[in-house]
Amino acid sequence: MATSALIIPYHVAIVMDGNGRWASKRFLPRIAGHKQGVDSLIRCVKACLNRGVSVLSVFAFSSENWNRPPEEVSGLMDLLVIALAKQVANLNADGVRIHFVGNRLELSARVQAALVKAELETVANQRLTFNVCFNYGGRWDIAQAAQKLVSRGEAITELSLDGAMALAHVPDPDLLIRTGSELRISNFMLWQAAYSELHFSDKLWPEFDEAALDEAIAIFSTRERRFGKTSEQVNSHYVAAPVKKPA
Ligand code: FPP
Repeated sequence: MATSALIIPYHVAIVMDGNGRWASKRFLPRIAGHKQGVDSLIRCVKACLNRGVSVLSVFAFSSENWNRPPEEVSGLMDLLVIALAKQVANLNADGVRIHFVGNRLELSARVQAALVKAELETVANQRLTFNVCFNYGGRWDIAQAAQKLVSRGEAITELSLDGAMALAHVPDPDLLIRTGSELRISNFMLWQAAYSELHFSDKLWPEFDEAALDEAIAIFSTRERRFGKTSEQVNSHYVAAPVKKPA
């Protein structure tokens, strides 16, 4: 059987789903699943570094997650602050630059301060851009980008909107993974995922390990990315995301 060359996606985006089910299966509180999810996330960051992925973006708290029970919401906020206190030094040593993407004005002053500290500490790093989407929603991002352009008196075009997005500092994701067996995007990267290759894993997020990432990358490597062209037009080499049309 012919094997195709492995193509490492430049930007991997992940909907980390299944923490609650992982905990329920073990008769543990949901927050125990989220704690395990942090460990899985750190493992995934290391795996991306080792494989030469340049950008990793993860969905850690959605605009809709405020509707969860208050103890879970506050547990996730605490977990974020604790995880940053524990992990930023290691991530910094590994050359990871952390960005938080989302509406941070709705977060407490304590959480906001932790985000700013992590971003400042890692600002000079270049090996991996790590976007933690927190209080993020794809619809929020499109609306805030449009609002920004309106307030500047700029025309709304594909190009101008693209540049005003909260994720404008990175190219669109090449590979979008969702764990936990659900087949939906759930308001993640609505604008940016237009041409992302989708991969749905049956693993719950705490179980998503290096082998699962390698499987996703191997499957990604077999996909023909056409960006609207025909198969005949596309040669067998990797095709970069299309240049955005000028306004
Ligand atoms: C979805 O699983 C997961 C979340 C809403 C939170 C994701 C957070 C982490 C992986 C931890 C890292 C985040 C921080 C705060 C550093 P779910 O709870 O919806 O799982 P379920 O579908 O099994 O209930």
